[in-house]
Amino acid sequence: MTDTRFPPLRSRAWFDNPDNIDMTALYLERYLNFGLSLEELQSGKPIIGIAQTGSDLSPCNRHHLVLAERLREGIREMGGIALEFPVHPIQETGKRPTAGLDRNLAYLALVEVLYGYPLDGVVLTIGCDKTTPACLMAAATVNIPAIALSVGPMLNGWHKGERTGSGTIVWKARQMLATGEIDDAGFIKLVASSAPSTGYCNTMGTATTMNSLAEALGMQLPGSAAIPAPYRDRQEIAYLTGKRIVDMVAEDLKPSDIMTRDAFLNAIVVNSAIGGSTNAPIHLAALARHTGVELELKDWQTHGHKVPLMVNLQPAGEYLGEDYYHAGGVPAVVGELMKQGLIHEDAITANGRTIGDNCRDATIEDERVIRPFATPLLQDAGFVVLSGNLFDAAIMKTSVIGPEFRDRYLSNPDDPEAFEGPVVVFDGPEDYHHRIDDPALGITTDTLLFMRGAGPIGYPGAAEVVNMRPPAYLIREGVHALPCIGDGRQSGTSGSPSILNASPEAAANGGLALLRTGDRVRIDLNKGTADVLLSDAELAERRTALMADGGYRYPASQTPWQEIQRATVGQLNTGAIMEGAEKYQRIAQT
Ligand code: FES
Ligand code: MG
Repeated sequence: MTDTRFPPLRSRAWFDNPDNIDMTALYLERYLNFGLSLEELQSGKPIIGIAQTGSDLSPCNRHHLVLAERLREGIREMGGIALEFPVHPIQETGKRPTAGLDRNLAYLALVEVLYGYPLDGVVLTIGCDKTTPACLMAAATVNIPAIALSVGPMLNGWHKGERTGSGTIVWKARQMLATGEIDDAGFIKLVASSAPSTGYCNTMGTATTMNSLAEALGMQLPGSAAIPAPYRDRQEIAYLTGKRIVDMVAEDLKPSDIMTRDAFLNAIVVNSAIGGSTNAPIHLAALARHTGVELELKDWQTHGHKVPLMVNLQPAGEYLGEDYYHAGGVPAVVGELMKQGLIHEDAITANGRTIGDNCRDATIEDERVIRPFATPLLQDAGFVVLSGNLFDAAIMKTSVIGPEFRDRYLSNPDDPEAFEGPVVVFDGPEDYHHRIDDPALGITTDTLLFMRGAGPIGYPGAAEVVNMRPPAYLIREGVHALPCIGDGRQSGTSGSPSILNASPEAAANGGLALLRTGDRVRIDLNKGTADVLLSDAELAERRTALMADGGYRYPASQTPWQEIQRATVGQLNTGAIMEGAEKYQRIAQT
């Protein structure tokens, strides 16, 4: 007897296939072996996967091990059967050489699981930076009904009565250590104060960004992204998420129905308003390509640049994750943006309603934390997209640029001013760490710091190292930031005004590979250009010499996956996905 609420379920091909009783028996006997009954497996109940990203190796997402119990209860209550399985662990701060290397690996493995096993729907347990895009990308490729459950941010960190935010405190603590204000033990204590509980980074880093955007895209229940991990509301939303995925299977509501171009444009607008991470364009580009949606880097400037910064979270502002939740979280931000006509209100979300219906009545509960649109922290807070003779595309997060720099170089289109200076070039993070304090480099306040060899090929996965601190002697004089430019990424928790994600990278023999310490570079943020002041002839000569020398050199791979990733990965401006993988779309339907 089949449950008539559901359309024909793909799990029937495993568990209830009269045309192949031989295989059906084999599939059944092994899933029966831990106590599931024949009645359950052949009753027409949907099999719901719980893609588990939490583990002891992934502390940010570890609380999902607890939340899974509430997920299961919700799934069972609605007549589904939960099968939980591990996702390749990704811990942003714990993985060498960089967690960026693992996003495509986790994607690849999850696609195989979702496609190759008897799953009718899936709950994606998202959280730490790369776990969110990896899970969403895989759900997009396979395209079975899917809903995301965020693990939620940690509680606010505190030190001597001040909020200490994940990652953001590290940049400050490094400067304090460099000037001798604190010692090694004080450094560890200060940094650890920012992590008082289970959950992901409590700042507006890549985790809070990507979890907010997963909600803005419609892939989570409304209001669920910002709930702190230890709160009871987090348990409740897990239960509701479990209930909802079963209905999504009944409605056959799939990722391709939810993640439309409108949904992506909503996410871009929300990213500007929240002061989201520079990793977001990379992950959204990847997700869009696996979903089959047109999205270009220039969409970020076209649709996002003019949006003001409304959310007052570190690193751009002062508050943290608990405050964001109490102020109303994503629905409050979206509701405010809707009043300005900036949201595509008809985009369908995981609860089966439109984002407009979900957020229309949402209100800002604390205007210190989420500012009204009319009185934001900053106008024009989205990314600027740059190009020139050094790279085809790079971005700058304008919400973290200091006011003086901003007024002078960005906010005055009537009197546009470019900045120009001599460059110091570092080849990868190790080179930078060895040499940054060397007085022989002659770094002054006019210097532009360049980091190359840090892209998806050069430092496999692309390292978050473009935001470089100035030499200690300048910090002691009160200089806390110099313009930094590079082909790597930057942590979302950093407040540096860097130009990053430069594509193509040096390791792909992009223009950055031709740059030499002492060259002068001119950057015009109003025009969106970045150029080294060298003639085309000189650049051509350098390129000939570079290629004769075998191209830009980078360290050898240390693992098989590093080699495979390097051979298949594209550049950051197009999502750094495995090139060729995007032709596999909606494969559950094929
Ligand atoms: Fe995992 Fe920040 S390190 S969320
Ligand atoms: Mg990061």
